[in-house]
Amino acid sequence: MENFAERKLLFRGGTVVTASEILQADVLVVGEQIAAVTKDLVVPDAEVVDAKGKLILPGGIDPHTHFDLPMFNTVSSDDHYTGTKAAAFGGTTTVIDFIPQDWDTLEEAVQAWHVKAAKAAVDYSFHMNITRWDENTRRELPRLREWGITTVKVFTAYNGRLRLQDGEIFEVIRLAWQNGILTMVHAENGDVIEILVREALEAGHTEPIWHARTRPAWGAVEAVLRASALAAQADAPLYIVHMNTAGGAEQLRYAREHGVRVMGETCPQYLFFTEDDLKRPDGAKWICSPPMRTRKDNEMLWHALEHNWLSTIGTDHCPFFYDGTKPIIYEGKPVAIPGKELGKDDFTKIPNGLPGVGDRLPVLWTEGVVKGRLSPQQFVAYTSTNPAKIFGLYPRKGTIAPGADADLVLWDPDLKVKYGVKVAQHRTDYNLYEGWELTGFPVQVYLRGRLIVDHGEWHGIRGGGRFLHRGVPQVI
Ligand code: URP
Ligand code: ZN
Ligand code: ZN
Repeated sequence: MENFAERKLLFRGGTVVTASEILQADVLVVGEQIAAVTKDLVVPDAEVVDAKGKLILPGGIDPHTHFDLPMFNTVSSDDHYTGTKAAAFGGTTTVIDFIPQDWDTLEEAVQAWHVKAAKAAVDYSFHMNITRWDENTRRELPRLREWGITTVKVFTAYNGRLRLQDGEIFEVIRLAWQNGILTMVHAENGDVIEILVREALEAGHTEPIWHARTRPAWGAVEAVLRASALAAQADAPLYIVHMNTAGGAEQLRYAREHGVRVMGETCPQYLFFTEDDLKRPDGAKWICSPPMRTRKDNEMLWHALEHNWLSTIGTDHCPFFYDGTKPIIYEGKPVAIPGKELGKDDFTKIPNGLPGVGDRLPVLWTEGVVKGRLSPQQFVAYTSTNPAKIFGLYPRKGTIAPGADADLVLWDPDLKVKYGVKVAQHRTDYNLYEGWELTGFPVQVYLRGRLIVDHGEWHGIRGGGRFLHRGVPQVI
């Protein structure tokens, strides 16, 4: 194609699903953008994509990834290329990745992350972790907005490392919002965790289940309400990441009902797995923070999704090898990255985190839409439209409408796939959904009008993603 900006692509005969409707319509893409969404479009000079029997969804937006993140004496095993490639195979065309505050200034941290992320194969943006609250950070924080980063994350856990004190969190939330920046919070009780971990180790407990036993659910429940109350007192909104407990969901609802502008994210792992998974011989695979809890918590989180108490479903994708001493073959080359085996004698040394960026849409479709727990519109809202709105990307991303980027997923709702590590494209040696029978899967994925995944084949480009300079977050 000589001039991509003028190329016309017509998706004919499909069913368009947005957060608000399901309609029989053709979609015309000109260059990188959607030009029209109407029934029976006739465009003689367009290339036609036969979408009959398929759904057309807006590309997924994963608001929570950790690519190439140094932690636990290793690094998360997907970098910004391999992770975004995996995302694309699962129908996700935008990711928002966290920058650690590991440099002297925020500016240096942002620049370093730009260098790493330049290899991304889908569009991307960043959140900035605020884990040191000093004069310099206070002065620099408002500048994030001019760099297109309109979200920061703070932690009530990871004492001595990432955690801020409540007063500091209050100040961050307030100053951030005065500058059009939304604060996100990791809500657990760092003080209690510190004591319980010390006691568990002194008692000789080393197994993965102790990860959950030393991070009690009540810590998350009270921290969700505490953080919401801090936001209320700061007269600012708040976004609570990776919500894992029934009680946390109830506190979120309580705060929202009392006028607090708080929004919650959950992740697929908290809908499907429990602490019991940590008791398996390979339990280290399920270690993440906060931990998975009980069946009751799973059910309440589904309930919270069904009733729109929660706002998004992200992944917290932060993969590690289960056995990083044994290479896997990735793009034809052996790769081994130290992983969960680092903690085989001590649960506190097991890297915290899981793969998931590519799993999110297919697993949620089967378990959510096919099983009748979510409507197709809710599925789109939680995985694309709401993240676009909250994170200042809407309506460029997150919908199918004229003027939006042509990030489109051609979804076959009848395709049956036996899922697992061989189908998922993450750069790691295991998958949490190994052997799951899925119904519904992306068959083609387009990034700004370009086909990047075609029936399981990769057509994307290392570095083909673009940094998204984000606007002011919307409170929904
Ligand atoms: O275990 C996890 N979730 N690792 C990533 C860091 C975080 O707190 O999100
Ligand atoms: Zn977190
Ligand atoms: Zn995270």
